[in-house]
Amino acid sequence: IKSIAVLTSGGDAPGMNAALRAVVRTANHYKIDCYGIREGYNGLIAGDIIKMGPRSVKNIINQGGTILKSARSKEFMTPEGRKKAYDQCVKLGVDAIVCIGGDGSFTGAKVFNEEHGIKVIGVPGTIDNDIFGTDKTIGYDTALNTAMDSIDKIRDTATSHNRVFFVEVMGRDAGFIALNSGIATGALDILIPERKDSLEDLFNTFRTAEKVGKSSSIVVVAEGEELGNIYDLAKATKGEFPNYDIRVTILGHIQRGGSPSCADRVLASHLGYGAVIGLMEGQNKVMVGMQSNKIVYTPIEEAIKKHNEIDKDLLKIAEILAM
Ligand code: F6P
Repeated sequence: IKSIAVLTSGGDAPGMNAALRAVVRTANHYKIDCYGIREGYNGLIAGDIIKMGPRSVKNIINQGGTILKSARSKEFMTPEGRKKAYDQCVKLGVDAIVCIGGDGSFTGAKVFNEEHGIKVIGVPGTIDNDIFGTDKTIGYDTALNTAMDSIDKIRDTATSHNRVFFVEVMGRDAGFIALNSGIATGALDILIPERKDSLEDLFNTFRTAEKVGKSSSIVVVAEGEELGNIYDLAKATKGEFPNYDIRVTILGHIQRGGSPSCADRVLASHLGYGAVIGLMEGQNKVMVGMQSNKIVYTPIEEAIKKHNEIDKDLLKIAEILAM
């Protein structure tokens, strides 16, 4: 392999810069040309591509976001858009694309490879942790810690005012951030899409909490949870327990920002390195992941289609420890 191009695509995640740095410096180490594509696949289509060397990624390992910028490209979803992208690869002599992103970005990479034969490798970067083939995705640990810190702060008010807080966390249709931040903050209940909850279950939890003398509570709600909109949940709870003082907080994009945690920097360094090594060893149309501290390559279609299971033990532990 002589020349690679790297992009960040989809929602930004803390640690994407660390992954980019690892790709660029590993490529440089093995004398492979490296280009950076700006704004995801949009930049590949438009030719917004820059040559990168080891110094172009200095001082970024600690930075959140992505210096290459990111996008969810509509044009790349069309055959015409992908043809333009292919023409840019030919123009620059690029043999392979390293795509740092989530499952939507990997789907684009897969189709691009099938249509035009340019090699692709995915690096899982998303706070949602919803990608199969890796124990953790880049950005998840940082987002989890941000959510935990934020919920800790909410707890101060909840306790001081004897309030009930419904706190919504991100994760798209996965409940990893909700379940783990909920356990880490001692939430009374955790609502996630992977478990079918009912309003009656939630109300029973509140009733038990009253019996054991709890005077304030936090319910962590995954944004993809299927019981209903968080405001409707709060309203229904108020209807059942009119004396509750209820507040809703949606943490939102605060969870995507900030300096990556140590775990995310190390993971990103590992995976960025692993992506280049994989390409050198002939890997194609795969995603690089870490499983039990080992680099593993998973066919990209599996990474997209399958999902990591929620740890059922954790669900039970959350319930036992809440009371
Ligand atoms: O995939 C990352 C994520 O932050 C999800 O958790 C969330 O559902 C979505 O992106 C939000 O997307 P946007 O930034 O486009 O509003």
